[in-house]
Amino acid sequence: MTIGVVIVAAGRGERAGSPEEGPKQYRRIGGRPVIARTLERFLSWPRSGPVVVVIHPDDAALYAAAVADVDGAADVITTFGGETRQRSVYEGLTALSGTGATHVMIHDAARPFVDHDMLDRVAAALDAGHDGVLPAMPVTDTLKRGGSDGLVHETVPRAGLYAAQTPQTFLLSSIRTAHEKAAALRREDFTDDASIAEWAGLPVALVEGSVDNVKLTVKRDIAMADEKLSQMSFPDVRTGNGYDVHQLEPGDGVTLCGVFIPHDFKLSGHSDADVAIHALTDALLATCGAGDIGDHFPPSDMQWRGAASKIFLAHAAKIVRERGGIITNADISLIAEAPKVAPHRDAMRQNLAEILGITVDRCSVKATTNEKMGFVGRGEGIAAIATATVIYRGSVA
Ligand code: CTP
Ligand code: MG
Repeated sequence: MTIGVVIVAAGRGERAGSPEEGPKQYRRIGGRPVIARTLERFLSWPRSGPVVVVIHPDDAALYAAAVADVDGAADVITTFGGETRQRSVYEGLTALSGTGATHVMIHDAARPFVDHDMLDRVAAALDAGHDGVLPAMPVTDTLKRGGSDGLVHETVPRAGLYAAQTPQTFLLSSIRTAHEKAAALRREDFTDDASIAEWAGLPVALVEGSVDNVKLTVKRDIAMADEKLSQMSFPDVRTGNGYDVHQLEPGDGVTLCGVFIPHDFKLSGHSDADVAIHALTDALLATCGAGDIGDHFPPSDMQWRGAASKIFLAHAAKIVRERGGIITNADISLIAEAPKVAPHRDAMRQNLAEILGITVDRCSVKATTNEKMGFVGRGEGIAAIATATVIYRGSVA
């Protein structure tokens, strides 16, 4: 048995309103697109076979961006859907045929809270020999039938009534035949696959759904999902460190954190050799895996000769921001026998704040001697260690 998956995501989400925010399956809840969450639940389920996502022809770029960081998304087959959910499912079943899948789970992209326990229950029903399985929840509200006169006409007994969820799961060949038959007879009014199966005479077994497996339909559903996830989420706080060292040679002064301090020596190296800013640039790049300063400003490149190092730091800050990062702290320790750093600390912190676009209280510069030990102690060079703290949008969990 190979359980393929078809996720339908070609709808326009009209009931969710706010078309300027895009189709509901691409909106973010808890910092991540709905469809990324839905897709992940299936890709990480150990029994998943090939996965097809059915998208709207207008949404190719939206889809690619939404699932870019989803593990395994590169192996997902995408195909275009149609005017109705029924048509979109049919296109998905067609794309899944020939992949080796024997069974298919058909799932709404708009149900991102589907969980592995429920998928296991559905699969267990297949293992038990059922060729059609519907996860559903017993109806709990008392049901009334109303009339066009706005009055209650009767109370409908709720015993035996269930609310259908997805993934509705079938033997692939049977549900495909049922869909083909419906299409041939121009029956285009089915809102789920269990009703097509029923119409085609395929038996469907009920298994317990999940209260959390709601479909995001109206705007409030999306807002509530977002609130729920934001409460549960862990902020994506990352720290990076950086280290740099430059040699001292006879000269007229050193530049540290952008401040020129007159001295009998200067620092050698490419650019202005601002060892403190170089260390902090590496620390920032490290918070988003963006390599190091040498990758972005190769020492062999003549254009950086004598350059002010603040260009490097500003560039790293830009990369961090483009990746959704908010810089919350920058901390530098200088290790130098001379010159004295203390009188310049405030000017240095002010420089860092300006380059990074953050407040001065988030910038720290400290200095220590090396107690005359080692190369720093002998006055051969100056070293710097830096730590950057960045909060990235979204959540770790
Ligand atoms: N769907 C689809 N193709 C369609 C219509 C719906 O693939 N032509 C998908 C939706 O993207 C959704 C699922 O079917 O994941 C369930 O449908 P629904 O909640 O009705 O979504 P929409 O049709 O997008 O919303 P609305 O009915 O409010 O317009
Ligand atoms: Mg719809």
